[in-house]
Amino acid sequence: MVWSKAIEDAVGKIRANIENNGMKFPHITNEKRYEWSENIDWIEGFYTGMVWLSFEYTGDAYFKEQAKLQIDNFRQRLEQRNCLEHHDIGFLYGLSALAGWIVDGDKDACQLALQAADLLLARWRSKGHYLQAWGPEGDEQNGGRIIIDCLMNLPLLYWATQHTGDPIYSEIAYKQAELSRRYLVRGDDSSYHTFYFNQETGIPLGGGTHQGYHDGSTWTRGQAWGIYGFALSYRYTGDPKFLETSKRLLRYFIDHLPEDSIAYWDFNVPIEAGTSRDSSASAITACGMHELLELMPQDDPDRLWIAVALEQVMKSLVERYATIGEEAEGLLKHGSYHVRGNSGLDDYMIWGDYYYLEALLRIERSIPGYWYERTEQGIGKLMKQFV
Ligand code: GLY
Repeated sequence: MVWSKAIEDAVGKIRANIENNGMKFPHITNEKRYEWSENIDWIEGFYTGMVWLSFEYTGDAYFKEQAKLQIDNFRQRLEQRNCLEHHDIGFLYGLSALAGWIVDGDKDACQLALQAADLLLARWRSKGHYLQAWGPEGDEQNGGRIIIDCLMNLPLLYWATQHTGDPIYSEIAYKQAELSRRYLVRGDDSSYHTFYFNQETGIPLGGGTHQGYHDGSTWTRGQAWGIYGFALSYRYTGDPKFLETSKRLLRYFIDHLPEDSIAYWDFNVPIEAGTSRDSSASAITACGMHELLELMPQDDPDRLWIAVALEQVMKSLVERYATIGEEAEGLLKHGSYHVRGNSGLDDYMIWGDYYYLEALLRIERSIPGYWYERTEQGIGKLMKQFV
């Protein structure tokens, strides 16, 4: 498989999107296009992350200039605390500011990433002992809620400890990963999207869903966030529980895929004509698989099936789901956002585009995205003293 054609096509589309839309960010529609508007949602970092990936692939200074302008926009957002009452600060600032530090050594971007980590840390609820996913402290509906997506926001915290030496960030990240492992992962290796705790006492109340088919179902993107997120917690902490959990979630994901290896939006939804796929879940999982292969020992017998699955998923995405050669703003077709909420049913998802490009660059160029610095620290070496 020649991946470079897919990458070239993607980079061309990213360039065109910047030229056509200036400092606007892509948002989800139900119209097979993006709606271009302000930096006010949880998803804008994916776009900036794609600009950084484009810079790393091409070396073209245009992409770096654009990514830096976008970081300025993220800085204003943080100063104004504009729509940041949620845990996705990790996605937003990891793929913009932290990426700017990793790729360009930009010290101001590094400071911004640290400020973002502080904001995320402030979501730790000391009475309940969890990181609150959405809304302000004490919120009646969401005050006691954790969600599996949060695992992908924890790298910003682990990194903050790595950078500053202050253990508080990684202690909280580790506790949240362990809480997620205990309560969001079920005995058959499927997962809850969300779990509730008593806000005052931390007593576990029960699992549920927000975007899945029903409370006990397995929302495919949630499972994907878990696969990649636990692998990253293993990279930072070296705790083998997280490696094992990532692999178990992955086995479940792969075993429940349809013939073309691209997930429907929930593993329990009845499959009928018109049931939405979620290509973004498969793109996230592809990155998770590549990360696992980076982390697993060479003699691990699970390497083979993971490598085969990675090849199958990527081949299917490129050959059947990508917009290669088409006039399109997005890179991957047939993503879904919130099917139950009737939003983004079969469309481009900017995070699907991001993870698709990250997976391609991981495979083709060993560029692993922006979840950790590319230093030779060794797995968990730095963190072992903290957790
Ligand atoms: N983190 C929100 C989502 O995956 O839709």
